[in-house]
Amino acid sequence: SFKGSIPVSIAKIPNLQELDISYNILSGTIPFSIFNMSSLTYLSLAVNNFVGELPFDIGYTLPSIQTFILQQNKVGGKIPASLANATNFLSINLGANAFYGIIPSFGSLSNLEELILASNQLEAGDWSFLSSLANCTQLQVLSLGTNMMQGNLPSSVGSLATSLGALVLHANKMSGSIPPELGNLTNLSFLRMEQNQFAGDLPSTIGNLASLTYVDLSRNRLSGQIPSSIGKLRQLNNLFLQENNFSGPIPRTLGDCRSLITLNLSCNSFSESITRELFFLDSLSAGLDLSHNQLSGQIPREIGGLINIGPLNFSNNRLSGHIPTALGACIRLESLRLQGNLLDGGIPESFSNLRGIAEIDLSRNNLSGEIPNFFQSFNSLKLLNLSFNDLEGQMPQGGIFQNSSEVSVQGNSMLCSSSPMLQLPLCFASSRHRRTWRTLKITGISVAALALVCLSCVVFILLKRRSKRSKQSDQPSYTEMKSFSYADLAKATNGFSPDNLVGSGAYGSVYKGVLESEANGMIAVKVFKLDQLGAPKSFVAECEAFRNTRHHNLVRVISACSTWDNKGNDFKALIIEYMANGTLESWIYSETRRPLSLGSRVTIAVDMAAALDYLHNSCMPPIVHCDLKPSNVLLDDAMGARLSDFGLAKFLQSHDSSSTITSTSLAGPRGSIGYIAPEYGIGNKISTAGDVYSYGIIILEMLTGKCPTDVLFKNGLTLQKFVGNAFPKKIRDILDPTFIIPRSGDEGLDHGNHAMVELLSCIMQLVQLGLSCSTETPKDRPTMPDVYSEVSAIKREYSASRAKE
Ligand SMILES: *[C@@H]1O[C@H](CO)[C@@H](O)[C@H](O)[C@H]1NC(C)=O
Ligand SMILES: *[C@@H]1O[C@H](CO)[C@@H](O)[C@H](O)[C@H]1NC(C)=O
Ligand SMILES: *[C@@H]1O[C@H](CO)[C@@H](O)[C@H](O)[C@H]1NC(C)=O
Ligand SMILES: *[C@@H]1O[C@H](CO)[C@@H](O)[C@H](O)[C@H]1NC(C)=O
Ligand SMILES: *[C@@H]1O[C@H](CO)[C@@H](O)[C@H](O)[C@H]1NC(C)=O
Ligand SMILES: *[C@@H]1O[C@H](CO)[C@@H](O)[C@H](O)[C@H]1NC(C)=O
Repeated sequence: SFKGSIPVSIAKIPNLQELDISYNILSGTIPFSIFNMSSLTYLSLAVNNFVGELPFDIGYTLPSIQTFILQQNKVGGKIPASLANATNFLSINLGANAFYGIIPSFGSLSNLEELILASNQLEAGDWSFLSSLANCTQLQVLSLGTNMMQGNLPSSVGSLATSLGALVLHANKMSGSIPPELGNLTNLSFLRMEQNQFAGDLPSTIGNLASLTYVDLSRNRLSGQIPSSIGKLRQLNNLFLQENNFSGPIPRTLGDCRSLITLNLSCNSFSESITRELFFLDSLSAGLDLSHNQLSGQIPREIGGLINIGPLNFSNNRLSGHIPTALGACIRLESLRLQGNLLDGGIPESFSNLRGIAEIDLSRNNLSGEIPNFFQSFNSLKLLNLSFNDLEGQMPQGGIFQNSSEVSVQGNSMLCSSSPMLQLPLCFASSRHRRTWRTLKITGISVAALALVCLSCVVFILLKRRSKRSKQSDQPSYTEMKSFSYADLAKATNGFSPDNLVGSGAYGSVYKGVLESEANGMIAVKVFKLDQLGAPKSFVAECEAFRNTRHHNLVRVISACSTWDNKGNDFKALIIEYMANGTLESWIYSETRRPLSLGSRVTIAVDMAAALDYLHNSCMPPIVHCDLKPSNVLLDDAMGARLSDFGLAKFLQSHDSSSTITSTSLAGPRGSIGYIAPEYGIGNKISTAGDVYSYGIIILEMLTGKCPTDVLFKNGLTLQKFVGNAFPKKIRDILDPTFIIPRSGDEGLDHGNHAMVELLSCIMQLVQLGLSCSTETPKDRPTMPDVYSEVSAIKREYSASRAKE
């Protein structure tokens, strides 16, 4: 927060090489003496309020300069041509200032890697600056967006260094066609040319730019068909072609762009039916916008393949036929816009799966039938526009229908209401029971319909590394993941034989199996029960959690598989390492296993805390497990604990806007009875404190051998109260009887033998920890880092006492 002007005396520091005073509130002109510090190699004045101009001889007075960053000030004038005489330059950034005039030539800067002049009022002149840049053979970033460059982009753009990764030319006044030579820049990953006046075809040489991840050509006058070579862009995450004059069909090869996250083709003149290949892009998540075109025909039912899509916009086309039932498989839909088409038939019953949706606009179609009741229970829904259709019958009353500013039903002459609202006529009694004529009894999503959806490995995309430019190099990468077919997994598990079944939950069954390729041969395969509502979502949640995590106390995922079985049904499975020692639950309650030693229980408590601390505090965004219970804690050969089952895991917030999946806030109960934090029951937000609660319950359960849903716990008695009442004096009465705690005859601890005292002290500390974690009010619970350090200390003390023996 430094204010005022730069003191001139700074320039008197002898031999200063690096000066960085960026991100302050400094103002005034930059003292010219700064530019006389001939030893400077790095000078950053970025993000301040400096005014004035640069000295014309700056390139001579800073002979050693390599990096000069002036970004985001108010410095103006012409760019001094002498900059080109400071031949050590690696990076020049004058972006977001007030420079004007013609861009000088920088061709003499043979080491230049970055030239950023965006957001000024610069002109291109005769574009000779561009051809001179061909000499900068190390150039990686050329950013000239938001300036006043006019005229045709010369073909010399294709002579720029092949090292160029980013070319930014948006928001200028460039016209003419896009030179095909652009296709020479084979390492280009980021291309912005939107908001110019480019016309003509998109050259097919764009297909040579196989490294492209981001392409924005929107708001130009491009026309013709999109070249089919676009399908060669396998790394492409974002493609923006909206607001041009493209015509013809949407090319089928777009379905080969398997990394697409956002595709915007809106406001063009695309015609014919929607290319079904688009719906194989299960990577699409941030948006698919085909609105304002001339697309016709039915919406292909393969649309159910877009299982990750958030916003979907097909509005203002000429689409006809029914809304496909398969849309109900797009469980991450946040916004569905189909208004302004010729759709008929009813609102599919399968929409009842779209519980996370916020906006539905089906207005201006020819939809008939009644308004489904299930919209009443959609907590996230903020807009439901059904205007100008042929809907009939009685309006539902609850949920969103109570708020007339969120629901729009005008222009449906046969709708009525049982209360005088929404300016609808009043219904005659029982009109809501005339449902027999409709075939609305479709049960959920038909799995068979989905089978037609030729999903390729969703997970390959899900687990794919984030875009290359992402700085998060500490993110685990899964490029080394093996892929398995249905046949591989069937063989490994003896045809999913019941003999191999080792566990079963609401969303999946776990089979053990043998895979030659794995180190010890054993694996576990979790097969998702896709006909269970929520199971597909749980699969995605688990994949997402595993994509973002790697920790030795989390169960290791070998691979994930999304394919179809030998009957053509959708098949999704996770292949995880096999845990020879099964679940913690099986150890607490088994009659046949040997009892867990106190040492094992302490180790398990520490391992669980380590994993949770990692999820809560080392993951970005933080992850809340939401379903901690002993059956989700697996034990490895050495009786170390690993958390599994991330089917309900929740990312607290998405910091990374480029991530493939954005977390949605689907409502609904999370967790398992007995372990779920009480505040979740009263609608509180998911938080890390909820996991702390479940952790506390498991600790108490491990110590008492009593499940929180034990028949003992009724009439207000809970596991915590049960333990709390006995603490500390009578604690031995409620401990798991399998603990071997010698009774020394009298009650006083001090008279018992020394080892037993230490054993009990360890137990007491664990009990205390379990009780404080499972307190009713979230804010009274310790945080996971505190829990982890506490339980680690307990373990150290315990180990030390054993060593003494
Ligand atoms: C400065 O650079 C320009 C353009 O590269 C060149 O013509 C001129 O001779 C250089 N001046 C000196 C003193 O090196
Ligand atoms: C480009 O490099 C060549 C050879 O290094 C040099 O002769 C020429 O002057 C340079 N062009 C510019 C514009 O600096
Ligand atoms: C697509 O482009 C249109 C028009 O510019 C814009 O309104 C819309 O928000 C964009 N949609 C997406 C998903 O980017
Ligand atoms: C709307 O549907 C009705 C039958 O449900 C049909 O008679 C009518 O022609 C349709 N209107 C349009 C514009 O397609
Ligand atoms: C609902 O749709 C109609 C017709 O498309 C439109 O005029 C109206 O503004 C929309 N209402 C809301 C609240 O979006
Ligand atoms: C109705 O919806 C509007 C817009 O979402 C909101 O501002 C308003 O509070 C809601 N009213 C009620 C009674 O829920």
